[in-house]
Amino acid sequence: MHIMDIFQNAISADASQVSLDIVENTPGNTLQLEFADNGKGMTEEMARKVTDPFFTTRTTRKVGLGLSLLKQNAERTGGSFTLESEEGKGTRVTVRFILDHLDRPVLGDVTGAVLLTVIANPGTGFVYSHTKNGKNYRFSTEEALEALGGIQLNDPLVYPYLREMIEENLSDIGVTTSS
Ligand SMILES: Nc1ncnc2c1ncn2[C@@H]1O[C@H](COP(=O)(O)OP(=O)(O)OP(=O)(O)O)[C@@H](O)[C@H]1O
Ligand SMILES: [Mg+2]
Repeated sequence: MHIMDIFQNAISADASQVSLDIVENTPGNTLQLEFADNGKGMTEEMARKVTDPFFTTRTTRKVGLGLSLLKQNAERTGGSFTLESEEGKGTRVTVRFILDHLDRPVLGDVTGAVLLTVIANPGTGFVYSHTKNGKNYRFSTEEALEALGGIQLNDPLVYPYLREMIEENLSDIGVTTSS
């Protein structure tokens, strides 16, 4: 849920490029997720306030929860949260969890979260990179589009195909999804 939420923030900030970099380090006992986008970014003041649950620029309700909940979840499990943002340039959110902490949220269905966001935002380029103990897999919409030779990513036939491809590659680097 956090992954979808942080992606959605990037989309709302009009990003044309969004990336998620997951690094699992079993010997180091850490799980890191780094989100970056080239959207409109935030002012310094905003970047400071944004992890306060009572601050949001949305008008439909008063409480923005995405970033502050993610920060709380990371810190509660002995991890860390950093947000770097520059107006007109983009935003980077880095969140680190202690891998074996009992309260660490599970990674869940990352492939599904990535693909659903990709399909819903055909104009946006996505890169999802996953490294586990030094082994890496990288999925990019640019490469996928090239490989599909003219078939669009939101074509109904594409989702199961991409899903299987990503899951297989993740499994090759030792990533067990939903763990
Ligand atoms: N990647 C980003 N680029 C630019 N601004 C951002 C980005 N992420 C968050 N923000 C700003 O920070 C505010 C807080 O974000 P947060 O996700 O915590 O809450 P929200 O998106 O407003 O509401 P919710 O996520 O609960 O639906 C957003 O309203 C937006 O103004
Ligand atoms: Mg949000």
